[in-house]
Amino acid sequence: APEPATLVIFGVTGDLSRRKLLPAIFGLWQDGLLGSAFNIVGVGRQEMTDEEFKDYAVKALQESKETDTIQPGSLEKFRELLFYEFGEFGEDEVYDLVGKELDRAEEAHGGRKNALFYLSTPPSLFEPISNGLGRLGLADQSEGWRRLVIEKPFGRDLDSARRLNAAIHDTWDESQVYRIDHYLGKETVQNLMAIRFGNAIFEPLWNRGYVDHVQITAAEDLGLEGRAGYYEEAGIVRDMLQNHLMQLFALTAMEAPAAFDADAIRDEKTKVLRAVKPIPAGRVGEVAVRGQYGPGSMDGQKVPGYREEPGVDDGSRTSTYVAVKLEIDNWRWQGVPFFLRTGKRLPKKVTEIAVVFKRAPLGIFPGGLERNVLAFRIQPDEGVSLKFSSKSPGQEMVLREVVMDFRYDAFGAQLESPYSRLLLDALIGDATLFPREDEVDHAWQIVSGILEAWDVRPGKGQTPDFPNYAAGTWGPEDAEKLIGPDRRWRRL
Ligand code: BG6
Repeated sequence: APEPATLVIFGVTGDLSRRKLLPAIFGLWQDGLLGSAFNIVGVGRQEMTDEEFKDYAVKALQESKETDTIQPGSLEKFRELLFYEFGEFGEDEVYDLVGKELDRAEEAHGGRKNALFYLSTPPSLFEPISNGLGRLGLADQSEGWRRLVIEKPFGRDLDSARRLNAAIHDTWDESQVYRIDHYLGKETVQNLMAIRFGNAIFEPLWNRGYVDHVQITAAEDLGLEGRAGYYEEAGIVRDMLQNHLMQLFALTAMEAPAAFDADAIRDEKTKVLRAVKPIPAGRVGEVAVRGQYGPGSMDGQKVPGYREEPGVDDGSRTSTYVAVKLEIDNWRWQGVPFFLRTGKRLPKKVTEIAVVFKRAPLGIFPGGLERNVLAFRIQPDEGVSLKFSSKSPGQEMVLREVVMDFRYDAFGAQLESPYSRLLLDALIGDATLFPREDEVDHAWQIVSGILEAWDVRPGKGQTPDFPNYAAGTWGPEDAEKLIGPDRRWRRL
């Protein structure tokens, strides 16, 4: 269990906190993983008493689909851990009140004044809050450890990410900073490392000698979900590609770390991100395809196009789909393309990493040769499968593709939410699953040219021919050309 600590959540009345954070914390606490000396201080701009906040949190837990089964009496006890402070994030007063909460926690359960500050606010507030905590000495670790958790998006481009990093480092040492990418908290994403580096049979094949190409897909059936304000500004490249897909890519392509520790792993991820062949704006047309969904149907129901979503401009140039080909300039991967695709309003929710192997060198059986595929299903139906050809029963030598399948549910355990895992890691002080400053920087560098070429401001960049895929289909046709002609996207 972590040491006694106070978790301070800025922006506690926001969507993320209500839907994911509070349920994750509650789950950890109910399972006894947080110890007894634990407090939660919610901070917001909204005026509320402690009692009102407790009611708010309990209601959030009762309403969230992510909340574990609530044990009798649990909510009443959990309420006692909750406190609330409010104020303007640009002024000192609110940080002073937070400081007093830490004093009170120390008096209540002794020990040191350890604190985890979680910024679950709009990004424009990251810097003011980090500065405010700094001004009042709350980042100082002489009376207990102090850590800062920052939600995405971490910057909106390379420059702003660098400025944000610099601003945060005015107050915090990099070792105190935990940047969240919830994909790293997924069991199956961690399993990628377990399979690669915990077995001897895969790694010898994991290179240009045997791998033809790699496909990474994060498809979502959902559309905007009422997030037009954010999404119109962000688009798919900032929302998914720069962070979640780059992380999946780095874990798939990196070298074996010397140890399973935060810096060894992050060093290797950074190295491979750095080796990605740059994509200047002028080359974007060759290696990337963008899309925006139009009206279509999902599960037999008609759904509106992106431009018809509430809050979206009817001439919006925001992309809701991206496919990109990454090439890596290192010895292991020379000549092996990595194809990444992600989009909203695709036929279904599925995240998968597929390592597609080269064909056998000589076909001695009738019919063509297929490529073997090792696929990591991140979600849903979590598991790992290997596709290969086998003789199908009968007189003739006819080969058919078959699948060897490991399903995660074979463990019989429920997969914990990524937020529980990451929160607990941050409380314990394990930064392995949090992207480091240089990783984030390189991930931005990779997508910089794409953002530049696809600038959403009218009159900037090339004008897209949007909408170019119907909701409920697998994205624009050009994506097939990007991967083809001898390869094709997996039908998932
Ligand atoms: C978030 C994005 O980071 O990830 C969302 O902002 C997206 O747009 C979500 O829907 C996908 O996460 P998951 O865990 O549901 O695959």
